[in-house]
Amino acid sequence: MRPNRHSPIGVFDSGVGGLTVLKALRARLPKESTVYLGDTARVPYGTKSGEVVTKYSLANARALMEHDIKLLVIACNTASAVAVPALQAALPIPVVGVIGPGAEAAVHSSRSGQIAVIGTPGTISSGAYQRALVARRADVVVRTQACPLFVPLAEEGWTDGQVPTLVAQRYLGVEVLGGVDTLVLGCTHYPLLRDVIAQVAGPTVTLVDSATATAEAVASLLEKHGLLGDAERPTRRFLVTDTPARFEQVGARFLGEALHEARQIDLHLT
Ligand code: DGL
Repeated sequence: MRPNRHSPIGVFDSGVGGLTVLKALRARLPKESTVYLGDTARVPYGTKSGEVVTKYSLANARALMEHDIKLLVIACNTASAVAVPALQAALPIPVVGVIGPGAEAAVHSSRSGQIAVIGTPGTISSGAYQRALVARRADVVVRTQACPLFVPLAEEGWTDGQVPTLVAQRYLGVEVLGGVDTLVLGCTHYPLLRDVIAQVAGPTVTLVDSATATAEAVASLLEKHGLLGDAERPTRRFLVTDTPARFEQVGARFLGEALHEARQIDLHLT
């Protein structure tokens, strides 16, 4: 079957993190069916090489294509940083990553043009946010910081109090935030730590979360391609590559609602 406007949107991430993007998508496009794939057998992506993350991303995309998806959302910053060109070349449908929309939102938010970006080691070392920001505003000054400990803190639910505050203070010193007016939360997990990060960054820094901007970009693309869905009862499927229990338990916090019936699948890695 050729994908049409009734087909689902495919969304993938390394695990539960992309559920923050799915949440924003559902809020913006409530009549769309979705299939979400969390590659829980191979998480995390943030510490792996670009080559390996691209290989996993292609396998995720192939698995989602079996569900006749009409558009693919790469709901993982690390995969968006390294795999967009390979996925766009391989797939016959529109592909949206989170970095372009996140950079767009940051450039709109910043008056001074001094922007900080935080993300996984893979996202930061790829330079993808820096390139996306400079492409949208040539005089932008970008500071970056990898914050790998935020990922396990968010998954453990340690999102307020002393421990995450100390970690945030350690990562977000004056060498990262001095002079900046906008901070990009360049990782799926960081919205869960938003309050702590905002407190450490202070009131003069606006936090930009790429999930909302990505949902907006998806809505525009669907409209442009005549693919906007209008289901009264959209279907919402979840696929995982390891046993579903932890995904369902931790994922409910990321999605903001109970999560049932994730189905385990195998990926064909070539
Ligand atoms: N989803 C990843 C990201 O946004 C974070 C978790 C991981 O490292 O896999 O970069």
